Amino acid sequence: MIGEKKVLFSGMQATGNLTLGNYLGALKNWVSLSDEYECFYSVVDMHSITVRQNPAELRKRARALLILYIAAGLDPEKNCIYYQSHVSGHAELAWILNCFTYMGELNRMTQFKDKSAKHADNINAGLFTYPVLMASDILLYQADVVPVGIDQMQHLELTRDLAQRFNHIYGNVFTVPEAYIGKVGAKIMSLQDPAKKMSKSDENPNASIFLMDEPDVIMRKCKRAVTDSEAQILYREEQPGVKNLIDIYSACTGKQPEEVVKEFDGRGYGEFKLAVGEAVVSVLKPLQDEAARLNKDKAYIDSIIKKNAEKADYYAMKTLRKVQKKVGFPERIR
Ligand code: TYM
Repeated sequence: MIGEKKVLFSGMQATGNLTLGNYLGALKNWVSLSDEYECFYSVVDMHSITVRQNPAELRKRARALLILYIAAGLDPEKNCIYYQSHVSGHAELAWILNCFTYMGELNRMTQFKDKSAKHADNINAGLFTYPVLMASDILLYQADVVPVGIDQMQHLELTRDLAQRFNHIYGNVFTVPEAYIGKVGAKIMSLQDPAKKMSKSDENPNASIFLMDEPDVIMRKCKRAVTDSEAQILYREEQPGVKNLIDIYSACTGKQPEEVVKEFDGRGYGEFKLAVGEAVVSVLKPLQDEAARLNKDKAYIDSIIKKNAEKADYYAMKTLRKVQKKVGFPERIR
């Protein structure tokens, strides 16, 4: 708790171009939860270097992502929006928690398996211990709730296990966090292969809608989305392509999937895809415009970056000092 409020933590990697999946699965929920909680939203740039990055590109993307958080509607005066690398406590806690995590636990992580298959020439130790850094992000702020897409659930389970393990040995040190998964949009699938999640790194450019795609590109990608030959708009597992489009439309319009099915009863896929495209554009266009506006205000963004890093650091240090003491590090004499 901070004051009267429970704490929320979440983060996103500044790697590649963000997709509609990132927005509907995470960022959109962050905004809707932000009044209720004391929120920390991090641009997790330390996670990004588990895969080789171009330094100038990473810096640019990290700033663009931080601006996007604000453009999406998170008020940086109320929400702590900051770069992970600006708060050294993340790395310090990660080291300690590494010593409480078993190799077997990390070996089971599906994201590690996927990423090491994709980057076979660079299976580094950071990629392996990535979930421990993620646990540290969350536990450092004593977060109660962590809004994420379904793909992050396994990491969240590990975070809970680590918190409980630590608490069991040292008493009540960490809050054990809960995941928050949105009702719609928690797993947006590829537009070209609805069996796969929509991902930044998909090789097929038509598979993902990127948050910065121009309206005509969005419309074209929606029109080309893979469906089926059933010729009926129903929300069911047997029609994964159509189901995914219904999810996207629902998440963008705030309508329930059942309402969408009723709305498009008897209408063709062509018409439906057009409506999906328009719904996506109506959500992304204002976001893009606001990001472009904020991007010009360098002094304002810089002041946010500084102020919020200090705020994050203050709360991070409170937890870190407690943990250091518990594990037996000598007291600081200053
Ligand atoms: P990342 O950067 O891959 O994704 C950011 C968020 O977007 C969600 N997401 C999706 N949701 C629905 N459909 C999709 N197709 C889709 N693709 C991505 C993710 O679930 C995530 O919520 N390890 C994390 C970043 C992280 C983090 C944290 C998150 C680091 N520390 C602490 C929460 C708390 C990651 O790589 O997310």
